[in-house]
This record gives sequence, structure tokens and C-alpha cells, in this order.
Amino acid sequence: MSSDLQEIDKKFLWHPYTQMHDYAERDLLIIDRADGLMLYDLDGRSYFDTISSWWCILHGHNHPTIKMFMHRQLDRLDHVLLAGTSHEAAIRLAEKLIAITPADLTRVFYSDNGSTACEVALKMSLQYWRHRGQPGRKRFIALERGYHGDTIGTMSLGGVPDFHKEFAEILFTSFTVPSPYCYRCPMEQDQLSCQLECLQPLAELLEMEGAHIAAMIVEPLIQAAGGMRIYPARYLERLAGLVRHYGVHLIFDEVATGFGRTGRMFALEHAGVTPDFLCLSKALTAGMLPMAATITSEEIYQAFYGDYAENRTFYHGHTFTGNPLAAAAALGSLQVFAEEKPLARLPAVIAHLHRKMARFGELPWVGEVRCLGMIAAIELVKNKRTKEEFTFAERVGWQIYLKGLEQGLILRPLSNIVYLWLPISTTTAEIDEITERTWLVLADADNIKGLPGR
Ligand SMILES: Cc1ncc(COP(=O)(O)O)c(C=O)c1O
Repeated sequence: MSSDLQEIDKKFLWHPYTQMHDYAERDLLIIDRADGLMLYDLDGRSYFDTISSWWCILHGHNHPTIKMFMHRQLDRLDHVLLAGTSHEAAIRLAEKLIAITPADLTRVFYSDNGSTACEVALKMSLQYWRHRGQPGRKRFIALERGYHGDTIGTMSLGGVPDFHKEFAEILFTSFTVPSPYCYRCPMEQDQLSCQLECLQPLAELLEMEGAHIAAMIVEPLIQAAGGMRIYPARYLERLAGLVRHYGVHLIFDEVATGFGRTGRMFALEHAGVTPDFLCLSKALTAGMLPMAATITSEEIYQAFYGDYAENRTFYHGHTFTGNPLAAAAALGSLQVFAEEKPLARLPAVIAHLHRKMARFGELPWVGEVRCLGMIAAIELVKNKRTKEEFTFAERVGWQIYLKGLEQGLILRPLSNIVYLWLPISTTTAEIDEITERTWLVLADADNIKGLPGR
């Protein structure tokens, strides 16, 4: 069956973020089933899903509580549109989301994926300012190396040129300010000397352009796809203060960080800041089904509320908005939080993970190890002292990916950044196993393509 599926896959499928030529002479990894942290291929070989299947699996694969919620929903209502009709799963989920997010956030708008969660926030912000008589506020600010999705709107705020430069001509212009990239500080500071100088360009931009800006979008505490750049909570706190001072909306993109991954339910809790828009997806359904939510304040909601003839309606909606099965999966995930209390056991697990990761810093080709909650990243460099980077053509991550598979790990480095993005259900024993296997991959200089002399 395996070779049959390989052939059909190669004939008909086009995989995302994948150079299909890589598979001209090589088999794709076809996954047959999953359980907990493990994925099993058609031959029964097992692999640790160390990246939570693109950062969404939360309580492990196939969690029985979530499956039960989905089964019950399937027997009751498969799908119904959310315009003019509603259903219990979407209603109950909205109520629960409002209960666990900051007090000032009171309204849930559903969509299907992380990109649309952000896109909705951008559109709401823009329309809000028009309704409030400030149509001149129509520009956005984002961070260099920020990533908010692959739609035209979110690409326009994307700061990872490798992903989006081919589309530059059709993107709208936005302002970008330096990334808080502490390992290669743009202001040449270190941990001790840092006074958050990297916020100065934002302060200057706001001073000049503040009145024309609708919103600023950021990924709280970690710029994930942009290279797992982890930054201090006080940066976020100060950024929020600046943005607020100029009356600009704050959009927190917690598509990747939401639901416990950083050790708190939401990353924003580390900084104690409430945004105007909170964008959620991925782990919202614990990774079971696609769903997203953009959660906003009463002030924003009320700007859209009025007599039909005033034409204040928010004209945005996707066919599967608030899908009952996805909403049931999300409710199931919140039930797991209530019953199993993973957040209470996380601090010990996180401390264990961070301890285990420290060892990687000894390797001559590891520039930095950085950790945040259940996320751990290793930045590979050619030269530890000069921090010389591997080039695009050297493709250091590909070899590591292949060697990871041999060790029963699905590692998917972001070029020179090798990372673990673990489910919050991961045990310390699983962390021992995963970090040991990762060590076997990374400690072998032969696996680090592009190192001088190799
Ligand atoms: C922070 C962040 N925002 C938005 C997105 C886009 O989400 P999706 O791939 O579901 O469109 C991602 C995806 O990785 C993300 O990490």
C-alpha cells in the first residue's frame, strides 16, 4: 500500500511550504495514525511529533475527551451557517473564551485559520476608525521578522522576506520596526545593558505618523516563524504603553502561543497587557480541526452596532465560520484544561525541558539556546564567536530534518533554527527521550552541513 500511496501522492498532491523536487528521488513520510506525542507511518515506525504538527497539537494526538465532544456534536449537528443562525457549541465556546481572556475583551468573531484571525483584526481596526470619524488612520505597523499568515493582508505585514518577497508588488505598504532579536541585538546591547533601545524606532515612528496608524500587530513574546526569536515580557509591556499613548490599536497574534504553550494560558499574561484584538487559532481546537477566533472589546464592537441603514455591518465571513464540530473540539480542549489541569503541572515540566536544553549550548556550532515554556530553540552558527550564519544554499536544516527522521523525530528546522514546540501534555520522560535523540542528531558534526571544513 505504501508504494501505491507514494505514487498517487506524487502524481496528484502539492504540499505546502515544500519544494516538491526534494521528493523526486525520496519518499514522503506518510503518516497512518497518531497517539499522544507519537506519529506512526505505514510501516509502523514511530516518530515524536516534536513540533506539534505545525504548533497546534496541544494535549497530544487523539485525546479521548476531545474525540468524545466531537462525536457527540457529529450526532447532533454537522454544520450550519453562523449568519442569522447560531448553535450551542459556538455560543458556549464564545462564553468560555471570554471567561479565560482578559476582562476588557468581550466579543468573539470566528473564522477558520490563523491568517484569517489576523486579517479580521486588520479589517475591523480599519473599519472602526472610519466609523469613529478618523478615516486617516489606515496604516499598520509590524515587526521585522513578524509572521501573521499567508493571505495578502497578513503577507503585507509579514517580515520574513523569504516567504513573501515574490508577492511584494501586490502587497500594501506597512511600517516595520526592528525585531527584538536579543541574540543579535540591532542596538548592539546585551542582557545587562539593555534599556529596550530597540523600541526607539517605534517611538519615533509613532511620534511622526501616529495619527495615520490604525493598528500595530505583534506576536507576544516570541516571533515564531521568523526564527523563534524570544524576547522579554517587559519589551511587550513597553511597546503596548507606547502604542496606546498614540491611540493606536494593539493586535496580539497569539495564533501560535495561545492556550498554554508558553506556560500561561496566553503569552500576554507574562506582560499583563490587554490588546484591542486577540487572534487565536491552531491550539484553539487542540489541533483537531481548523478554527480561529478574533476577540475584541466592547468599544470596538459598539462602533459597528447601529441601525441597518447606517451601514456599519462588518462584511466579513467564511463559509465554515464557527463550524459546530470545530467548536465542539475547542470545548473539548477547554474541558481537558478543567479536568486535567495541565497548567498546574507545567512549571515543573517546563523547568525540566529548559534544563535539558542547556546542554546544547556546549556545542561549538550552537550560537544560542532560547526557551519559552514548552518551546525551545537552538540557533546554529558557523562560528560561535562571530555568529556567522549558514547561507540559504547550505540548507543546514534539511540534513537535520533527515537525520531527525532516522532518530524517530519530526524536527523541521526553520533554516538554521532547530526547535521543539511540544504539546503541553508532554511528560518529563518524553522530554528526556526527545532531547536525547535531538542530541544524537545535533552533536554529530557530520550532520551539520555547511560547517567550515565539511
Ligand atoms: C503567529 C502566527 N500567526 C498566524 C499564522 C497563520 O496561521 P495559519 O497557518 O493557520 O493561517 C501562524 C502560522 O504559523 C503563526 O505562527
